[in-house]
Amino acid sequence: MQPVVVQHPLAQCHLAAIRAQATPSHQFRRHLNLLARMLFLEASRELPLREISVRTPITQTTGAALARPVVFVPILRAGLGLLDGILPLVPEATVAHVGIKRNEETALPQSYYANLPANLGSADVFLLDPMLATGGSACEAARQLKAAGALRITMICVVSCPEGLSAMESAHPDVPIVTAAIDQGLNDKCYIVPGLGDAGDRYFGT
Ligand code: PRP
Ligand code: URA
Repeated sequence: MQPVVVQHPLAQCHLAAIRAQATPSHQFRRHLNLLARMLFLEASRELPLREISVRTPITQTTGAALARPVVFVPILRAGLGLLDGILPLVPEATVAHVGIKRNEETALPQSYYANLPANLGSADVFLLDPMLATGGSACEAARQLKAAGALRITMICVVSCPEGLSAMESAHPDVPIVTAAIDQGLNDKCYIVPGLGDAGDRYFGT
């Protein structure tokens, strides 16, 4: 499955702002929240609807509501930066959490927390993380979600690269990916080039 790259001009402007080293955390947060919202609009394009009856001040008519529950799953920590931007669009969604931290020496994912709801199997699940580098964290998160019953997972990541996309395609070919950029690749510390640095540190100012 080919990743969907959102090339809307405004998305590309927000992306340039979060890439810039000079962008301070408070601005980084704002741009990341807005960019996440644009990526989610693309990722949610095919969500099924059900018809509902609506009483306007004038008459009775029909309207639409989401047919299935939505579950957002930010990968802690940096995935919270996407959640902040997206949740206002579906305020009734459930928020699950997966805590995964890359080992700084090996770049391998280390899972330290999970809180997953029982309705994953009936939901449209959106896995949120700004960075898809080696793909280790995303693959592990998707594995945990499937093991807990998730059947329909879409991954939203802001910056991806060939290595991470290929890892996800091998491990989870059924998980579509929506991203704002496919960068050149990884450096010797497994950071994305050109990337934006450490997304969690930049979002939280640590
Ligand atoms: C970052 C990022 C992803 C992961 C991507 O998190 O938010 O979760 O690295 O790298 P990968 O594709 O090689 O697994 P990090 O492990 O730095 O944790 P943090 O969000 O707590 O800073
Ligand atoms: N995690 C990040 O935050 N940035 C990268 O470039 C790679 C992993």
